[in-house]
Amino acid sequence: MTRTYRIAAIPGDGIGSEVVGAGLKVLQALAKLDGGFTLDITGFDWGSERYRRTGAFMPGEGTDVLRSFDAILFGAVGAPDLPDHLSLWGLRLQICQTLDQYANVRPARMLPGITSPLRNVEAGDLDWVIVRENSEGEYSGQGGRSHRGLGCEVATEVSIFTRVGIERIMRFAFELARSRPRKRLTVVTKSNAQRHGMVLWDEIASEIASEFPDVVWDRMLVDAMTVRMTMDPGSLDVIVATNLHADILSDLAAALSGSIGLAPTANLNPERSAPSMFEPIHGSAFDITGKGTANPIATFWSAAMMLEHLGETAAAERLMRAIERVTADAENHSPDLGGSATTEEITSATIRAIGLNAT
Ligand code: NAI
Ligand code: MG
Repeated sequence: MTRTYRIAAIPGDGIGSEVVGAGLKVLQALAKLDGGFTLDITGFDWGSERYRRTGAFMPGEGTDVLRSFDAILFGAVGAPDLPDHLSLWGLRLQICQTLDQYANVRPARMLPGITSPLRNVEAGDLDWVIVRENSEGEYSGQGGRSHRGLGCEVATEVSIFTRVGIERIMRFAFELARSRPRKRLTVVTKSNAQRHGMVLWDEIASEIASEFPDVVWDRMLVDAMTVRMTMDPGSLDVIVATNLHADILSDLAAALSGSIGLAPTANLNPERSAPSMFEPIHGSAFDITGKGTANPIATFWSAAMMLEHLGETAAAERLMRAIERVTADAENHSPDLGGSATTEEITSATIRAIGLNAT
């Protein structure tokens, strides 16, 4: 019996459509070779172009439509002529929050053939998974503006930390740490300066830690964490942080592991009450849009995470091995990695590599 998965593809804006197009080609080639599953892909034209036409990035019933899918592959949203807070809240955050994709998982490791901007870092020295709280914290959307344009104008941006929200992300992070060979977790905080929400964050981390005696865990202030990631990358394994902190730290992680063009992410609904969404962490990259040089590896890696989530473990591994074979050869490096390979060339090389890798 062939297993069929319904995939919603939302390429979005800029290089989003270039890398998602490449990702779908790779996924279809993989499914064909595997033979055990098929992908029934539906594309959605949601994004800035739709906003200019209709006044909305996605239709009002958009998230309900998504509920009938097994997974979502997303590109990026954002256009130079539109405010970023409209595009982010109008599409990506709308989907993540409505479908309760509260665990944002961001692996970062040294792929073969990739050089870190850090000296003396090789494969194994930098092998992290950042878990980002994806539903509340600094990006809850609470706050407001008063007295617009007046001298006394005021704006508030309220961070929300709930016991339920912290408990579930901590449990998720400890479980992930437990599943990895080193079983280490670092909880990122800022409870010296933020003495309410971040103190609750710390307290709940300690409570949940007692359920995981086999996980070695520690706590780091977010500012000191940037130093540790740079100076002692080998001391870290799984990292859990708030929405804002992990947003920033994961771009640093992407840069330290070679390029933001390599970095994948999964927005997970761990209880599977709604589909999860997989996307490169990068944005729509106005500076390289239309040039055909966007690095599609981040999207391929995100697609591998999607297959893993769907239970297609063998196919996910086959794709990861293909990605590693491709990055190992500098001929396949795009300009962000110092090479000259195009999106299309990297896509073809990956499809060839999938064929070479026995299952
Ligand atoms: P960005 O990630 O789009 O670009 C930052 C830099 O990285 C640029 O120099 C770009 O050329 C390079 N880069 C990014 N992805 C690359 C790839 N695959 N291959 C090669 N180089 C790559 O971030 P930026 O410039 O801050 O944001 C641009 C737009 O994207 C904004 O509208 C922003 O709001 C949006 N954005 C959307 C996200 C999403 O939809 N998940 C995430 C981040 C930004
Ligand atoms: Mg970011």
